[in-house]
Amino acid sequence: MSPAGLLRLDGRGTSLVADARGAGVPRCVHWGTRLANGADLSGLARRDAAGTERPAVIETPLDLLPTADFGFFGEPALAGWSGGGDGGGGWAAALRLASARQEAERLEIVCRDRVAEIVIVLDLHLDPDSDVLVCRTSLTNEGDAPFHVQWLAALTLPLPAGAAEALAFHGGWGEEFRTARITLPPGVWQRTSRRGRPGHDGFPALIAGEAGFDDHRGAVFGVHLGWSGNHRMLVENLPGGGRQIQIGELLSPGEVVLPPGGSYRSPPAFAARASAGLNALSGAFHEHLRRRVLPRRVTGRPRPVVFNTWQALYFDQTHDALVELAEQAAGVGAERFVVDDGWFAGRRDDRAALGDWKVDRAKLPGGLRAVAERVNALGMEFGLWVEPEMVSPASGLYRAHPDWALSLPGRPTVPGRNQLVLDLTRAEVRDYTFAWLDGYLRELPIASLKWDHNRDLTHAGDAEGRPAARAQTLALYELLDALRERHPEVEIESCASGGARIDYGILARTHRFWTSDDTDAVARAAIQNGCSLFFPPEVMGAHVGPAPDPTTRRSVSMNFRGRMATFGHFGLELDLRAASAADLAELKRHVAAYKRHRALIHGGRWHRLAGAEGGAIGWCAVAPDRTRAVALAVQAADTALAEAATMRLAGLDRARVYRVRIEEPAPEHVRASMPDPEAWIGGGVDVGGDALCDAGLRLPLRWPETALLLTFEAVET
Ligand code: DGJ
Repeated sequence: MSPAGLLRLDGRGTSLVADARGAGVPRCVHWGTRLANGADLSGLARRDAAGTERPAVIETPLDLLPTADFGFFGEPALAGWSGGGDGGGGWAAALRLASARQEAERLEIVCRDRVAEIVIVLDLHLDPDSDVLVCRTSLTNEGDAPFHVQWLAALTLPLPAGAAEALAFHGGWGEEFRTARITLPPGVWQRTSRRGRPGHDGFPALIAGEAGFDDHRGAVFGVHLGWSGNHRMLVENLPGGGRQIQIGELLSPGEVVLPPGGSYRSPPAFAARASAGLNALSGAFHEHLRRRVLPRRVTGRPRPVVFNTWQALYFDQTHDALVELAEQAAGVGAERFVVDDGWFAGRRDDRAALGDWKVDRAKLPGGLRAVAERVNALGMEFGLWVEPEMVSPASGLYRAHPDWALSLPGRPTVPGRNQLVLDLTRAEVRDYTFAWLDGYLRELPIASLKWDHNRDLTHAGDAEGRPAARAQTLALYELLDALRERHPEVEIESCASGGARIDYGILARTHRFWTSDDTDAVARAAIQNGCSLFFPPEVMGAHVGPAPDPTTRRSVSMNFRGRMATFGHFGLELDLRAASAADLAELKRHVAAYKRHRALIHGGRWHRLAGAEGGAIGWCAVAPDRTRAVALAVQAADTALAEAATMRLAGLDRARVYRVRIEEPAPEHVRASMPDPEAWIGGGVDVGGDALCDAGLRLPLRWPETALLLTFEAVET
């Protein structure tokens, strides 16, 4: 075919140029600042008379799918082989460009390898509104023998020149979204998940950038895999200079074997870049998620105040306790009441009954209906906890169908939290699961499900003993899609012992996630801060928990707990029956504040205002027209008594003047420590947007574990 030339995609602030003039896989020669319309692109990638690439002006050129072809000695983006046994070179892919088609925001590049008898399709979509690039790769077997896919990157891109540092995600149960700043090493840096879900420690994303980047400064680049199963990502220093990043699905040996004509399609990878720090980067991801990924109900209706019964009752979900809690919850302003684990027969603890899903009539003599009707009569929606992918060995379901659990013949069956994982790849298991869920959703006024997943997958084999993590993830998506089609008004919360399954793949089918089992507001400062790099607050479940906190035993003031929950999807998860009148009154004020500010917090542009870890951080949400903003100045663990901190705002209109107010209830010591407190807390003080963003706001002295809620309103001048 004749060379397709230089192909270009444009967003609002970025352009991507692929050089498709050669015979092989097109190369990325620019992904960065938006290029002028009609710009001469030939300077981005010059070739000499022999067709050899000269160094690019902006980036080191890199094939969009590098393989061992012609002496590329880095990590290939494709590893696979043809199982025909003819040794015909299928393992050493050498792809040739077959066609390249551009349609508005989308580029479709087709490459073929006649020796390996495969076709690769690269699908790149640059969202013009958010500047997020969405990439998927697929492979079709055109041969007569099976083709084994070991690795196929969803996305391969050159890292921007000078991107030598990265923020990597790590953590654990109760410690989700920890970030560590690393210097990218020589050779390969790699992260994987083999848990059959992203895991508490493995949020599938990486942010790289130039040395010293922070929320406000520095060229940064972020990538995320929208996939709820296993993943792999790597950054490699290339032998010829520059760095490549790849992200895709981690496949077990033999997991994807394509019959003649069969295809594999990678999950979508999402990438964005910004020249002005992490706030600009997360702004792009939030925008994309809001516009293109989330179900419309999330953006189309205020996020209701949730009351969740877990940390109040644990497995004692009895009628009287639930009704009493529901009355209290309605009294403080809750709008959704979610009955957690323990409502079904045999569920006295976590050792039994998953899979049976029959209401426990001893605990709930009137069934769930009596509770749901009372909840509705109190003006709240009713929600129900479920864990549909699991089965307890001590259950009727397991006794009847031991073969329905994922396992491997000849290998031990390893329980996690005393439970096994149902093999959703089997149609009869999917049908059973769909039927009981559909039954409850039809029979009861259930407005939302909390969908839990409390264990990793270990040597998850299907009925034939093949690795099934991929098929299980696809089957879960199919199940969720079918349920949502049948019950489009039901909202779903993704939970996996807290935040072990949070990604854009699950969020395309659910309406929020349970960010962490750790509700301690001090721990939440770091968790929610890290989470906000890729997720906006309206999907981030954030609850006022008990004091002392069940995970950390720390007793945090109601004021601080309330403020931290306000900057997420607000909820309550504590025993209100034991709450003091003062606590109840304060809770009511926090609920009211959340309702007052939620449209702005959930619809505004989000900015982190200081360093990520430890003591002082801040968040603000700025209205799209920049006439209003709401901010939280958080003093989490460390004391700042020695010196009053300055909080620099971001995203405000520098030309405007804002009336700044500290919202009540302000922490008690604030009045004592600031000049003219009544002005700040009462009528407000007028400050220019430029001063707020450049010099910052000098905050009153603060104690640890306190937060100030500040509002900013543009005044007519
Ligand atoms: C783990 C979840 O994260 C908790 O919120 C709770 O729902 C329990 N599972 C119930 O078993």
